Amino acid sequence: MTQTAQPEQSLPIRSGSGGGIEPCTLVIFGGSGDLTKRKLLPALYNLKLDGSLPANYAVIGIGRKAWTDDEFRSMARGGIEQFSRQSLQRDTWADFAQRLHYFSGASEDLTMYERLRGRIEEIEVQFNLPGSRIFYLAIPPTSFGPSCEGLRHAGLIYPADRTDRVSRVIVEKPIGHDLESAKSINMTIGDVFDESQIYRIDHYLGKETVQNIMVLRFANSIFEPIWNHKYIDHVQLTVSEEEGLGTRASYYEHAGALRDMVQNHILQLLCLIAMEPPYSLDPDVIRNARMEVLRSLRPIRGTDVERATVRAQYTTGSIKGREAPGYRQEAGVRPGSTTETYVALRCHVENWRWSGVPFYLRTGKAMPRRASEIAVQFKDIPEILFNTSPQTRQAPNVLTFRIQPQEGLALRIMAKNPGSRATTHPVDMNFNYDDAFAAPSPEAYERLLLDVMAGDSSLFMRRDAVEASWAWITDILDGWNAQDQRWLPEYPAGTWGPIEADKLIATDGQQWRLV
Ligand code: BG6
Repeated sequence: MTQTAQPEQSLPIRSGSGGGIEPCTLVIFGGSGDLTKRKLLPALYNLKLDGSLPANYAVIGIGRKAWTDDEFRSMARGGIEQFSRQSLQRDTWADFAQRLHYFSGASEDLTMYERLRGRIEEIEVQFNLPGSRIFYLAIPPTSFGPSCEGLRHAGLIYPADRTDRVSRVIVEKPIGHDLESAKSINMTIGDVFDESQIYRIDHYLGKETVQNIMVLRFANSIFEPIWNHKYIDHVQLTVSEEEGLGTRASYYEHAGALRDMVQNHILQLLCLIAMEPPYSLDPDVIRNARMEVLRSLRPIRGTDVERATVRAQYTTGSIKGREAPGYRQEAGVRPGSTTETYVALRCHVENWRWSGVPFYLRTGKAMPRRASEIAVQFKDIPEILFNTSPQTRQAPNVLTFRIQPQEGLALRIMAKNPGSRATTHPVDMNFNYDDAFAAPSPEAYERLLLDVMAGDSSLFMRRDAVEASWAWITDILDGWNAQDQRWLPEYPAGTWGPIEADKLIATDGQQWRLV
Protein backbone atom coordinates (compact mmCIF):
# COMPACT_ATOMS: atom_id res chain seq x y z
CA MET A 1 0.00 0.00 0.00
CA THR A 2 1.45 3.42 -0.88
CA GLN A 3 0.61 6.90 0.24
CA THR A 4 -2.17 8.46 -1.88
CA ALA A 5 -1.80 11.97 -3.29
CA GLN A 6 -4.44 13.45 -1.04
CA PRO A 7 -3.89 16.73 0.82
CA GLU A 8 -2.34 15.93 4.17
CA GLN A 9 -4.54 16.25 7.23
CA SER A 10 -2.55 17.90 9.92
CA LEU A 11 -3.48 16.22 13.15
CA PRO A 12 -4.23 18.64 15.91
CA ILE A 13 -2.72 16.12 18.30
CA ARG A 14 -0.45 18.72 19.87
CA SER A 15 -3.40 20.62 21.24
CA GLY A 16 -2.20 21.16 24.80
CA SER A 17 -2.24 24.34 26.74
CA GLY A 18 1.33 25.19 25.70
CA GLY A 19 0.59 25.41 21.97
CA GLY A 20 3.98 26.44 20.52
CA ILE A 21 7.38 25.60 21.93
CA GLU A 22 8.98 28.27 24.06
CA PRO A 23 12.68 28.50 24.99
CA CYS A 24 13.45 26.33 28.01
CA THR A 25 16.11 24.73 30.20
CA LEU A 26 16.00 20.94 30.45
CA VAL A 27 17.52 19.63 33.67
CA ILE A 28 18.12 15.87 33.67
CA PHE A 29 18.55 14.08 36.99
CA GLY A 30 20.39 10.85 36.14
CA GLY A 31 22.42 12.80 33.60
CA SER A 32 25.31 10.34 33.58
CA GLY A 33 22.99 7.31 33.36
CA ASP A 34 22.07 4.88 30.64
CA LEU A 35 18.70 6.37 29.68
CA THR A 36 20.29 9.78 29.11
CA LYS A 37 22.97 8.28 26.90
CA ARG A 38 20.84 5.83 24.93
CA LYS A 39 17.56 7.67 24.60
CA LEU A 40 17.33 11.25 25.86
CA LEU A 41 20.38 12.88 24.28
CA PRO A 42 19.95 11.07 20.94
CA ALA A 43 16.27 12.10 20.96
CA LEU A 44 17.16 15.75 21.61
CA TYR A 45 19.80 15.64 18.90
CA ASN A 46 17.30 14.27 16.36
CA LEU A 47 14.85 17.02 17.29
CA LYS A 48 17.67 19.49 16.71
CA LEU A 49 18.43 17.98 13.29
CA ASP A 50 14.75 18.09 12.33
CA GLY A 51 14.53 21.74 13.38
CA SER A 52 11.93 20.92 16.05
CA LEU A 53 13.75 22.21 19.13
CA PRO A 54 13.11 25.80 20.14
CA ALA A 55 15.78 28.17 18.79
CA ASN A 56 16.94 28.81 22.33
CA TYR A 57 17.42 26.07 24.92
CA ALA A 58 19.97 24.53 27.28
CA VAL A 59 20.43 21.05 28.71
CA ILE A 60 21.96 20.38 32.13
CA GLY A 61 22.75 16.82 33.15
CA ILE A 62 23.05 16.15 36.89
CA GLY A 63 24.87 13.06 38.07
CA ARG A 64 27.09 11.61 40.76
CA LYS A 65 30.08 11.23 38.46
CA ALA A 66 32.56 14.09 38.81
CA TRP A 67 32.38 15.04 35.13
CA THR A 68 33.15 18.33 33.45
CA ASP A 69 30.91 19.80 30.75
CA ASP A 70 33.32 18.41 28.17
CA GLU A 71 33.14 14.91 29.60
CA PHE A 72 29.34 15.10 29.50
CA ARG A 73 29.52 16.27 25.89
CA SER A 74 31.79 13.43 24.94
CA MET A 75 29.41 10.92 26.56
CA ALA A 76 26.58 12.59 24.59
CA ARG A 77 28.53 12.32 21.36
CA GLY A 78 29.20 8.63 22.00
CA GLY A 79 25.51 8.03 22.75
CA ILE A 80 24.42 9.80 19.59
CA GLU A 81 26.97 7.98 17.43
CA GLN A 82 25.78 4.67 18.79
CA PHE A 83 22.04 5.09 19.26
CA SER A 84 20.75 8.02 17.23
CA ARG A 85 18.19 7.49 14.46
CA GLN A 86 20.06 9.95 12.24
CA SER A 87 23.83 10.17 12.11
CA LEU A 88 25.87 12.89 13.72
CA GLN A 89 26.57 15.95 11.54
CA ARG A 90 29.51 18.15 12.36
CA ASP A 91 27.89 21.60 12.23
CA THR A 92 24.67 20.74 14.06
CA TRP A 93 26.67 18.79 16.62
CA ALA A 94 28.90 21.77 17.40
CA ASP A 95 25.87 23.97 17.97
CA PHE A 96 24.08 21.30 20.02
CA ALA A 97 27.17 20.47 22.12
CA GLN A 98 27.72 24.01 23.36
CA ARG A 99 24.24 23.91 24.90
CA LEU A 100 25.01 20.76 26.94
CA HIS A 101 26.23 21.24 30.52
CA TYR A 102 26.96 19.05 33.48
CA PHE A 103 26.47 19.52 37.20
CA SER A 104 27.95 17.02 39.61
CA GLY A 105 25.84 16.16 42.65
CA ALA A 106 23.69 13.49 44.34
CA SER A 107 19.96 14.14 44.15
CA GLU A 108 19.48 13.04 47.81
CA ASP A 109 21.95 15.67 49.00
CA LEU A 110 19.66 18.56 49.93
CA THR A 111 22.61 20.90 50.32
CA MET A 112 23.44 20.82 46.62
CA TYR A 113 20.27 22.53 45.40
CA GLU A 114 21.41 26.09 46.23
CA ARG A 115 24.53 25.48 44.14
CA LEU A 116 22.42 23.95 41.40
CA ARG A 117 20.22 27.00 41.36
CA GLY A 118 23.30 29.20 40.92
CA ARG A 119 24.49 27.08 38.00
CA ILE A 120 21.08 26.98 36.28
CA GLU A 121 20.70 30.75 36.59
CA GLU A 122 24.20 31.32 35.26
CA ILE A 123 23.47 29.23 32.16
CA GLU A 124 20.09 30.93 31.70
CA VAL A 125 21.77 34.32 31.75
CA GLN A 126 24.47 33.14 29.34
CA PHE A 127 21.88 31.93 26.81
CA ASN A 128 19.33 34.60 27.56
CA LEU A 129 16.77 31.98 28.59
CA PRO A 130 13.58 33.09 30.31
CA GLY A 131 13.71 30.57 33.17
CA SER A 132 11.13 28.03 32.00
CA ARG A 133 12.41 24.70 33.28
CA ILE A 134 11.71 21.06 32.65
CA PHE A 135 13.10 18.65 35.23
CA TYR A 136 13.54 15.07 34.03
CA LEU A 137 13.67 12.51 36.87
CA ALA A 138 15.61 9.64 35.24
CA ILE A 139 16.51 8.33 38.72
CA PRO A 140 15.17 5.60 41.03
CA PRO A 141 11.81 6.40 42.68
CA THR A 142 13.47 6.58 46.10
CA SER A 143 15.19 9.75 44.90
CA PHE A 144 12.00 11.43 43.60
CA GLY A 145 11.14 12.82 47.04
CA PRO A 146 14.52 14.44 47.81
CA SER A 147 14.85 15.91 44.31
CA CYS A 148 11.37 17.47 44.31
CA GLU A 149 11.93 18.75 47.84
CA GLY A 150 15.39 20.11 46.97
CA LEU A 151 14.06 21.92 43.89
CA ARG A 152 11.23 23.49 45.88
CA HIS A 153 13.52 24.52 48.69
CA ALA A 154 15.91 26.24 46.34
CA GLY A 155 13.01 28.14 44.74
CA LEU A 156 13.53 26.46 41.38
CA ILE A 157 9.85 25.72 40.72
CA TYR A 158 7.16 28.20 39.70
CA PRO A 159 3.50 27.75 40.50
CA ALA A 160 1.35 26.14 37.79
CA ASP A 161 -0.67 29.29 37.16
CA ARG A 162 2.36 31.35 36.19
CA THR A 163 2.22 31.88 32.44
CA ASP A 164 5.48 33.71 31.65
CA ARG A 165 7.70 30.90 32.97
CA VAL A 166 6.73 27.27 33.27
CA SER A 167 8.00 24.48 35.49
CA ARG A 168 7.35 20.88 34.47
CA VAL A 169 8.58 17.54 35.73
CA ILE A 170 8.96 14.32 33.74
CA VAL A 171 8.80 11.12 35.74
CA GLU A 172 10.19 7.81 34.50
CA LYS A 173 8.88 4.41 35.53
CA PRO A 174 8.70 2.50 37.75
CA ILE A 175 6.05 4.54 39.51
CA GLY A 176 5.75 2.10 42.39
CA HIS A 177 5.71 -1.66 42.74
CA ASP A 178 2.09 -1.90 43.91
CA LEU A 179 -0.88 0.36 44.54
CA GLU A 180 0.33 1.66 47.91
CA SER A 181 3.81 2.57 46.73
CA ALA A 182 2.44 4.18 43.55
CA LYS A 183 0.14 6.33 45.66
CA SER A 184 2.99 7.34 47.88
CA ILE A 185 5.22 8.34 44.92
CA ASN A 186 2.34 10.30 43.39
CA MET A 187 1.79 12.04 46.70
CA THR A 188 5.47 12.94 47.04
CA ILE A 189 5.62 14.51 43.59
CA GLY A 190 2.13 15.97 43.88
CA ASP A 191 3.17 17.71 47.06
CA VAL A 192 5.59 19.85 45.10
CA PHE A 193 4.18 19.97 41.55
CA ASP A 194 0.62 20.54 40.44
CA GLU A 195 -0.85 17.62 38.44
CA SER A 196 -0.83 19.83 35.31
CA GLN A 197 2.96 20.14 35.66
CA ILE A 198 3.62 16.38 35.94
CA TYR A 199 4.41 14.25 32.85
CA ARG A 200 4.58 10.52 33.65
CA ILE A 201 6.28 8.74 30.78
CA ASP A 202 5.02 5.55 29.20
CA HIS A 203 7.27 5.40 26.16
CA TYR A 204 4.87 3.04 24.33
CA LEU A 205 2.44 5.93 23.98
CA GLY A 206 5.13 7.83 22.05
CA LYS A 207 5.54 5.09 19.43
CA GLU A 208 4.24 6.11 16.02
CA THR A 209 2.20 2.95 15.45
CA VAL A 210 0.62 3.23 18.88
CA GLN A 211 -0.58 6.74 18.07
CA ASN A 212 -1.85 5.37 14.79
CA ILE A 213 -4.39 3.24 16.66
CA MET A 214 -6.48 6.32 17.41
CA VAL A 215 -6.07 7.62 13.88
CA LEU A 216 -7.11 4.33 12.37
CA ARG A 217 -10.16 4.08 14.58
CA PHE A 218 -11.32 7.69 14.46
CA ALA A 219 -10.11 9.02 11.09
CA ASN A 220 -11.72 6.24 9.03
CA SER A 221 -15.38 5.47 8.62
CA ILE A 222 -15.20 1.72 8.14
CA PHE A 223 -13.86 0.45 11.46
CA GLU A 224 -15.88 2.11 14.19
CA PRO A 225 -19.27 0.60 13.23
CA ILE A 226 -17.87 -2.92 13.66
CA TRP A 227 -15.67 -2.13 16.67
CA ASN A 228 -17.75 -3.95 19.28
CA HIS A 229 -18.91 -7.29 20.67
CA LYS A 230 -21.29 -7.92 17.80
CA TYR A 231 -18.47 -8.25 15.28
CA ILE A 232 -15.28 -8.81 17.26
CA ASP A 233 -14.60 -12.27 18.63
CA HIS A 234 -11.52 -11.50 20.69
CA VAL A 235 -8.35 -9.42 20.82
CA GLN A 236 -4.78 -10.74 21.23
CA LEU A 237 -2.07 -8.40 22.40
CA THR A 238 1.51 -9.67 22.23
CA VAL A 239 4.74 -7.96 23.23
CA SER A 240 7.57 -10.45 22.82
CA GLU A 241 11.19 -9.58 23.39
CA GLU A 242 14.17 -11.48 22.10
CA GLU A 243 16.49 -10.02 24.73
CA GLY A 244 16.79 -11.74 28.07
CA LEU A 245 17.48 -9.90 31.29
CA GLY A 246 20.74 -8.23 30.28
CA THR A 247 22.31 -6.23 33.08
CA ARG A 248 19.09 -5.20 34.82
CA ALA A 249 18.83 -7.83 37.57
CA SER A 250 18.78 -5.35 40.45
CA TYR A 251 15.61 -3.78 39.08
CA TYR A 252 13.95 -6.74 37.36
CA GLU A 253 14.30 -9.21 40.22
CA HIS A 254 11.86 -7.05 42.21
CA ALA A 255 9.68 -6.25 39.24
CA GLY A 256 8.95 -9.17 36.89
CA ALA A 257 7.01 -9.07 33.65
CA LEU A 258 3.62 -8.13 35.13
CA ARG A 259 4.92 -4.96 36.77
CA ASP A 260 7.52 -4.19 34.11
CA MET A 261 5.34 -4.48 31.01
CA VAL A 262 1.66 -5.16 31.74
CA GLN A 263 0.96 -2.51 34.38
CA ASN A 264 2.02 0.25 32.02
CA HIS A 265 2.69 -0.42 28.31
CA ILE A 266 0.29 -3.29 27.70
CA LEU A 267 -2.64 -1.83 29.63
CA GLN A 268 -2.17 1.45 27.74
CA LEU A 269 -2.30 -0.41 24.41
CA LEU A 270 -5.46 -2.10 25.59
CA CYS A 271 -6.93 1.29 26.50
CA LEU A 272 -6.32 2.63 22.99
CA ILE A 273 -7.98 -0.37 21.38
CA ALA A 274 -10.96 -0.41 23.73
CA MET A 275 -11.61 3.29 24.48
CA GLU A 276 -14.75 5.14 23.42
CA PRO A 277 -14.32 7.91 20.84
CA PRO A 278 -13.20 11.02 22.76
CA TYR A 279 -15.28 14.12 22.00
CA SER A 280 -12.16 16.19 21.30
CA LEU A 281 -8.38 15.88 21.07
CA ASP A 282 -7.88 17.84 24.26
CA PRO A 283 -5.32 15.95 26.40
CA ASP A 284 -7.64 15.44 29.33
CA VAL A 285 -10.53 14.32 27.16
CA ILE A 286 -8.31 11.64 25.63
CA ARG A 287 -6.94 10.68 29.02
CA ASN A 288 -10.47 10.41 30.40
CA ALA A 289 -11.40 8.06 27.57
CA ARG A 290 -8.38 5.84 28.29
CA MET A 291 -9.15 6.00 31.99
CA GLU A 292 -12.70 4.70 31.44
CA VAL A 293 -11.23 1.48 30.05
CA LEU A 294 -9.08 0.95 33.14
CA ARG A 295 -12.15 1.51 35.29
CA SER A 296 -14.12 -1.04 33.25
CA LEU A 297 -11.57 -3.83 33.60
CA ARG A 298 -13.11 -6.75 35.44
CA PRO A 299 -10.92 -7.41 38.50
CA ILE A 300 -9.01 -10.70 38.52
CA ARG A 301 -9.06 -11.81 42.14
CA GLY A 302 -8.94 -14.89 44.37
CA THR A 303 -9.40 -18.16 42.48
CA ASP A 304 -9.82 -16.26 39.19
CA VAL A 305 -6.12 -15.45 39.32
CA GLU A 306 -5.25 -19.08 38.71
CA ARG A 307 -7.86 -19.45 35.96
CA ALA A 308 -7.04 -16.25 34.09
CA THR A 309 -3.29 -15.76 34.43
CA VAL A 310 -0.08 -17.68 33.75
CA ARG A 311 3.39 -16.61 34.77
CA ALA A 312 6.59 -18.34 33.81
CA GLN A 313 10.35 -18.04 33.74
CA TYR A 314 12.79 -18.84 30.95
CA THR A 315 15.31 -21.64 31.29
CA THR A 316 18.43 -22.37 29.25
CA GLY A 317 17.70 -22.52 25.55
CA SER A 318 18.76 -21.05 22.27
CA ILE A 319 17.68 -17.87 20.49
CA LYS A 320 18.33 -17.67 16.75
CA GLY A 321 20.98 -20.34 17.00
CA ARG A 322 22.79 -18.71 19.96
CA GLU A 323 22.91 -20.49 23.28
CA ALA A 324 20.99 -18.49 25.85
CA PRO A 325 21.28 -18.87 29.65
CA GLY A 326 18.25 -19.47 31.82
CA TYR A 327 16.95 -16.57 33.93
CA ARG A 328 18.40 -18.03 37.12
CA GLN A 329 21.83 -18.19 35.53
CA GLU A 330 21.80 -14.49 34.61
CA ALA A 331 24.17 -12.20 36.55
CA GLY A 332 22.63 -10.84 39.73
CA VAL A 333 19.66 -13.24 39.84
CA ARG A 334 19.01 -15.23 43.01
CA PRO A 335 19.48 -18.99 42.39
CA GLY A 336 15.93 -19.79 43.55
CA SER A 337 14.32 -16.70 42.04
CA THR A 338 10.60 -16.94 41.24
CA THR A 339 10.46 -13.67 39.31
CA GLU A 340 8.32 -14.14 36.23
CA THR A 341 9.79 -13.26 32.84
CA TYR A 342 6.58 -14.15 30.99
CA VAL A 343 2.91 -13.43 31.64
CA ALA A 344 -0.21 -14.40 29.76
CA LEU A 345 -3.69 -13.45 30.86
CA ARG A 346 -7.29 -13.24 29.83
CA CYS A 347 -9.23 -10.13 30.79
CA HIS A 348 -12.53 -8.44 30.08
CA VAL A 349 -13.55 -4.83 29.60
CA GLU A 350 -16.96 -4.79 31.19
CA ASN A 351 -19.00 -2.29 29.27
CA TRP A 352 -21.66 -2.38 26.58
CA ARG A 353 -19.22 -2.28 23.67
CA TRP A 354 -17.00 -5.13 24.84
CA SER A 355 -19.43 -7.36 26.71
CA GLY A 356 -18.24 -10.97 26.42
CA VAL A 357 -15.13 -10.21 24.31
CA PRO A 358 -11.98 -11.71 25.82
CA PHE A 359 -8.72 -9.77 25.58
CA TYR A 360 -5.69 -12.05 25.72
CA LEU A 361 -2.47 -10.35 26.74
CA ARG A 362 1.02 -11.90 26.74
CA THR A 363 4.54 -10.66 27.09
CA GLY A 364 7.87 -12.32 27.70
CA LYS A 365 11.61 -12.00 27.56
CA ALA A 366 13.98 -14.40 25.76
CA MET A 367 11.40 -15.31 23.15
CA PRO A 368 12.17 -16.25 19.53
CA ARG A 369 11.97 -12.68 18.24
CA ARG A 370 11.11 -9.10 19.05
CA ALA A 371 7.57 -8.50 17.92
CA SER A 372 4.72 -6.41 19.27
CA GLU A 373 1.30 -6.58 17.77
CA ILE A 374 -2.38 -6.25 18.52
CA ALA A 375 -4.64 -8.59 16.59
CA VAL A 376 -8.37 -7.92 16.48
CA GLN A 377 -10.10 -11.10 15.39
CA PHE A 378 -13.58 -10.79 13.92
CA LYS A 379 -16.37 -13.32 14.33
CA ASP A 380 -16.75 -16.32 12.04
CA ILE A 381 -19.02 -16.01 9.05
CA PRO A 382 -22.25 -18.06 8.99
CA GLU A 383 -21.93 -21.69 8.00
CA ILE A 384 -23.31 -21.25 4.50
CA LEU A 385 -21.92 -20.70 0.97
CA PHE A 386 -18.12 -21.03 1.27
CA ASN A 387 -18.28 -22.14 4.88
CA THR A 388 -20.37 -25.29 4.86
CA SER A 389 -17.65 -27.88 5.41
CA PRO A 390 -16.71 -28.47 9.05
CA GLN A 391 -13.30 -29.72 7.80
CA THR A 392 -12.43 -26.51 5.97
CA ARG A 393 -13.83 -23.62 7.97
CA GLN A 394 -13.07 -20.16 6.56
CA ALA A 395 -10.36 -18.33 8.51
CA PRO A 396 -11.83 -15.31 10.31
CA ASN A 397 -10.86 -11.73 9.36
CA VAL A 398 -8.10 -10.33 11.53
CA LEU A 399 -6.93 -6.73 11.72
CA THR A 400 -3.37 -6.59 13.03
CA PHE A 401 -1.55 -3.52 14.29
CA ARG A 402 2.17 -4.25 13.98
CA ILE A 403 3.81 -2.01 16.55
CA GLN A 404 7.36 -3.22 16.00
CA PRO A 405 9.27 -4.14 13.96
CA GLN A 406 7.95 -3.54 10.38
CA GLU A 407 5.47 -1.04 11.71
CA GLY A 408 2.18 -1.17 9.92
CA LEU A 409 -1.18 -2.77 9.63
CA ALA A 410 -2.53 -5.92 8.02
CA LEU A 411 -6.07 -7.02 7.31
CA ARG A 412 -6.53 -10.72 6.70
CA ILE A 413 -9.30 -11.47 4.24
CA MET A 414 -10.38 -14.53 2.31
CA ALA A 415 -9.73 -14.50 -1.44
CA LYS A 416 -10.61 -16.87 -4.24
CA ASN A 417 -7.86 -19.25 -5.28
CA PRO A 418 -7.11 -18.65 -8.96
CA GLY A 419 -8.59 -21.35 -11.16
CA SER A 420 -11.91 -22.86 -12.08
CA ARG A 421 -12.84 -24.19 -8.63
CA ALA A 422 -14.40 -21.85 -6.07
CA THR A 423 -11.90 -22.49 -3.30
CA THR A 424 -10.66 -19.81 -0.93
CA HIS A 425 -7.38 -18.82 0.66
CA PRO A 426 -6.54 -16.28 3.41
CA VAL A 427 -4.48 -13.29 2.18
CA ASP A 428 -3.24 -10.10 3.86
CA MET A 429 -3.87 -6.51 2.81
CA ASN A 430 -0.76 -4.76 4.07
CA PHE A 431 0.21 -1.23 4.98
CA ASN A 432 3.86 -0.66 5.93
CA TYR A 433 5.05 2.64 7.34
CA ASP A 434 8.39 2.39 5.55
CA ASP A 435 6.81 1.83 2.14
CA ALA A 436 4.07 4.41 2.53
CA PHE A 437 6.05 7.30 3.98
CA ALA A 438 9.45 8.46 2.85
CA ALA A 439 10.74 9.70 6.22
CA PRO A 440 11.58 7.25 9.01
CA SER A 441 9.35 7.50 12.08
CA PRO A 442 10.70 9.51 14.99
CA GLU A 443 11.62 7.63 18.15
CA ALA A 444 9.11 7.63 21.01
CA TYR A 445 11.33 9.81 23.20
CA GLU A 446 11.58 12.48 20.48
CA ARG A 447 7.84 12.86 20.33
CA LEU A 448 7.43 12.76 24.10
CA LEU A 449 10.14 15.32 24.90
CA LEU A 450 8.68 17.67 22.35
CA ASP A 451 5.21 17.25 23.82
CA VAL A 452 6.47 18.19 27.28
CA MET A 453 8.13 21.31 25.86
CA ALA A 454 4.82 22.16 24.16
CA GLY A 455 2.82 21.44 27.32
CA ASP A 456 0.79 18.64 25.72
CA SER A 457 0.06 15.85 28.19
CA SER A 458 -2.14 13.63 25.95
CA LEU A 459 0.48 10.89 25.72
CA PHE A 460 1.35 10.89 29.41
CA MET A 461 -0.10 9.03 32.33
CA ARG A 462 -2.33 10.90 34.71
CA ARG A 463 -2.18 10.12 38.39
CA ASP A 464 -5.60 8.43 38.47
CA ALA A 465 -4.68 6.19 35.52
CA VAL A 466 -1.43 5.05 37.14
CA GLU A 467 -3.29 4.22 40.32
CA ALA A 468 -6.19 2.49 38.53
CA SER A 469 -3.82 0.21 36.64
CA TRP A 470 -1.85 -0.54 39.79
CA ALA A 471 -5.09 -1.39 41.62
CA TRP A 472 -5.93 -3.95 38.91
CA ILE A 473 -2.40 -5.37 38.83
CA THR A 474 -2.11 -5.51 42.63
CA ASP A 475 -5.11 -7.89 42.79
CA ILE A 476 -3.23 -10.29 40.53
CA LEU A 477 -0.02 -9.89 42.53
CA ASP A 478 -1.95 -10.63 45.73
CA GLY A 479 -3.41 -13.73 44.11
CA TRP A 480 0.06 -14.91 43.09
CA ASN A 481 1.43 -14.22 46.55
CA ALA A 482 -1.25 -16.43 48.03
CA GLN A 483 -0.13 -19.32 45.79
CA ASP A 484 2.80 -21.64 46.39
CA GLN A 485 5.70 -19.72 44.85
CA ARG A 486 8.40 -22.36 44.94
CA TRP A 487 7.77 -23.43 41.38
CA LEU A 488 6.90 -21.45 38.29
CA PRO A 489 6.01 -22.85 34.89
CA GLU A 490 9.05 -22.66 32.60
CA TYR A 491 9.85 -22.15 28.93
CA PRO A 492 13.21 -22.64 27.27
CA ALA A 493 14.74 -19.37 26.06
CA GLY A 494 13.90 -18.96 22.38
CA THR A 495 10.40 -20.46 22.61
CA TRP A 496 6.96 -18.86 22.68
CA GLY A 497 6.18 -19.42 26.35
CA PRO A 498 4.98 -22.25 28.57
CA ILE A 499 2.40 -24.89 27.71
CA GLU A 500 0.19 -23.46 30.48
CA ALA A 501 -0.30 -20.32 28.37
CA ASP A 502 -1.44 -22.43 25.41
CA LYS A 503 -3.90 -24.16 27.70
CA LEU A 504 -5.21 -20.83 29.00
CA ILE A 505 -6.33 -19.72 25.56
CA ALA A 506 -7.28 -23.23 24.41
CA THR A 507 -9.96 -23.39 27.13
CA ASP A 508 -11.80 -20.79 25.06
CA GLY A 509 -11.28 -22.72 21.82
CA GLN A 510 -8.57 -20.33 20.57
CA GLN A 511 -4.83 -20.40 20.07
CA TRP A 512 -2.08 -17.83 20.21
CA ARG A 513 -1.22 -16.27 16.92
CA LEU A 514 2.15 -16.85 15.29
CA VAL A 515 3.77 -13.44 15.34
C1 BG6 B 1 10.74 -1.05 29.32
C2 BG6 B 1 10.94 -2.27 30.16
O1 BG6 B 1 9.79 -0.20 29.88
O2 BG6 B 1 10.31 -1.43 28.02
C3 BG6 B 1 11.94 -3.22 29.51
O3 BG6 B 1 11.42 -1.89 31.44
C4 BG6 B 1 11.52 -3.53 28.10
O4 BG6 B 1 12.06 -4.41 30.27
C5 BG6 B 1 11.23 -2.25 27.33
O5 BG6 B 1 12.57 -4.25 27.50
C6 BG6 B 1 10.64 -2.56 25.97
O6 BG6 B 1 10.59 -1.40 25.22
P1 BG6 B 1 10.71 -1.43 23.63
O7 BG6 B 1 10.47 -0.03 23.20
O8 BG6 B 1 12.09 -1.94 23.32
O9 BG6 B 1 9.65 -2.38 23.16
